[in-house]
Formats: sequence, structure tokens, C-alpha cells
Amino acid sequence: MTYQPPAIYGIIGNPVAHSLSPVMQNAAFKALGVNAVYKLFPLVDDGELRLFMEDIKEKANPIFGLNVTVPYKEKVLPYLDSLDPLARKTGAVNTLVIDHQRKIRGFNTDGPGFLAHLGELQFDPCDKSIIVLGAGGAARAIIGVLCLMGPQGPKSIRVFNRTRARVQTLIEEIQKEIDTDIIKGLERIEDLTSVDMLINTTRVGMQADDGLLFNPDLMHQGMLVYDVIYNPVETKLLQEAKQHSAATANGLGMLFYQGVLALSHWANVEPNQRVKKIMREALRGS
Ligand code: ATR
Repeated sequence: MTYQPPAIYGIIGNPVAHSLSPVMQNAAFKALGVNAVYKLFPLVDDGELRLFMEDIKEKANPIFGLNVTVPYKEKVLPYLDSLDPLARKTGAVNTLVIDHQRKIRGFNTDGPGFLAHLGELQFDPCDKSIIVLGAGGAARAIIGVLCLMGPQGPKSIRVFNRTRARVQTLIEEIQKEIDTDIIKGLERIEDLTSVDMLINTTRVGMQADDGLLFNPDLMHQGMLVYDVIYNPVETKLLQEAKQHSAATANGLGMLFYQGVLALSHWANVEPNQRVKKIMREALRGS
């Protein structure tokens, strides 16, 4: 028997050390009996991203799939050979598939992962009023899939971001791809009375000393506060939301569902119930 080096998969981003994707995907590879390893690839800046993506094109490179996280979900686009329709519509990519010709195809599994988690939470976005914090790649994915729901989707999505110009760009670019008029910019968060769901897509809350982006006393019973952050399990935002009797959810469910979809793209087949259960248990146990 000759030694076969494992196929390499992994996640690129900054930071990535907190990521639970290795635990989940390595458990899946083991359950599937495939010779593959999922690794962390911290890339400190755009220059490292460029070198890494150029290297991916090399014939001998053993990487066949990647997840992409903060802050590269949009920045990775110029390096891709093709995009699946949702990645094109949202302008954000979080999963890459690299074939044997070293062609790189970008997918967005964040958006469908988010919707699948909302289904599990039994939250129906139809006719709801939603606020999104952030205007990066995760925001694009979530806003994109919500807009694509059309009349079955929310009645309004208001986007609040530190860098205001980025909100305008997000709205214009999504509207070029999706026929929607429900997205608006939001300059200040002063009133949440009629808001059904608030979604944090920023990285604020990952660090213990991070503050809040608005007055927490505005949160109330009857709204769902969703934080895409899953590590820590409960951000300051979610703690405050609970104290104000709002329903809460962290991003662990979204991580799971996007991971199942990513694995489907890499393996070319949807993982069966047994493998999905192992992925869930790996996340719970970590
Ligand atoms: P990703 O593509 O994974 O969403 P990103 O594009 O870097 O990552 O987006 C991160 C989001 O977190 C952005 O909305 C960013 O705001 P800016 O557009 O103003 O950079 C937001 N963010 C990151 N650090 C922040 C901070 N300290 N305060 C407020 N917002 C922050």
C-alpha cells in the first residue's frame, strides 16, 4: 500500500482561531471515511490573501475546498474562476471548491444556512420588520436570501453600519441582482418598538471587551435577536437581549447548516442523517 497524502480543506480569515469549523468538518470526514483534513489558515492582510490564492492555482497544491470568513467574503471574489448564482447575487462567498484543474468556484452557503436555522427556530420572516447590523459579507448573504423570498419574505430590512457608504453600496449592488425595494439604510438605532428581528453580522461581540452598537434598553419581548457570532456562545448583545425578555439565537445553527452545504459541495453529495448528526454532536461537544 502506498501512502496517499490527505486532501486539505480549511478556513481562511482573520481571526480564525475561534472557528469551530475544523471540529465539525474533521468529524464529518472521519464519518465519511475520506482521507482529508480541515485546517485553519489565518491570513493577516490582503497581501497574504493574494499570495494564498495565487498559490491555490498551483497544480501541486493539495487544497480542494475552503471556507471564507471575516474579512474576506467579498475580497476573495477577484481570485475566483466562477460563481454560483447566489454568490453572484449577494456579492459574497463563504465556500470555495477547487477542482483538479485548479479552477476555483465560489458559493454562498451562509444565506441558505441562515434560512435553515430560522426554520429550525420556527421564525417565519414573512412580513417582518428586520434590522441588520453590519454591511459586510455575512450581511450580504443574509439580506440577499431574505430579499429573494419576495412576497413571502420580510416587509422591511434596515441596515446599520459603522461605515455608512458601505450600506449604500450593498443596497445598490443587491438591487442590481434582485428586484427588491425593501432594503433601506439606517443612520441611528433609536427605536425598536416595531422591529421583529435584529441580526448582528458584525464582529462586534467576539472580544470580551467589545461594547454594544446601540442602547440595549430598546430591546423588548416579542423580538428575536440573532447574533451570527457563536464563540462566545452568548455575546453581550444576547445577554442584554435576554435581560430585556427578547428571544435570542446565536450563530451555531447557521454554522452547522452552512457547513453541511459546504460539505455537500466538496463531496458532491449531501451528507446523510448519520453524518449530519455527527457534525452536530461535534459542535455541541466543543
Ligand atoms: P464579513 O465579510 O465576514 O462580513 P467584513 O466584510 O469585514 O466581514 O464585515 C465585518 C462587519 O463588521 C462590517 O460591517 C464592519 O463594519 P465596517 O464596514 O464599518 O468595517 C463591522 N465591524 C467590524 N468591526 C467593527 C467595530 N469595531 N465597530 C462596528 N462595526 C464593526
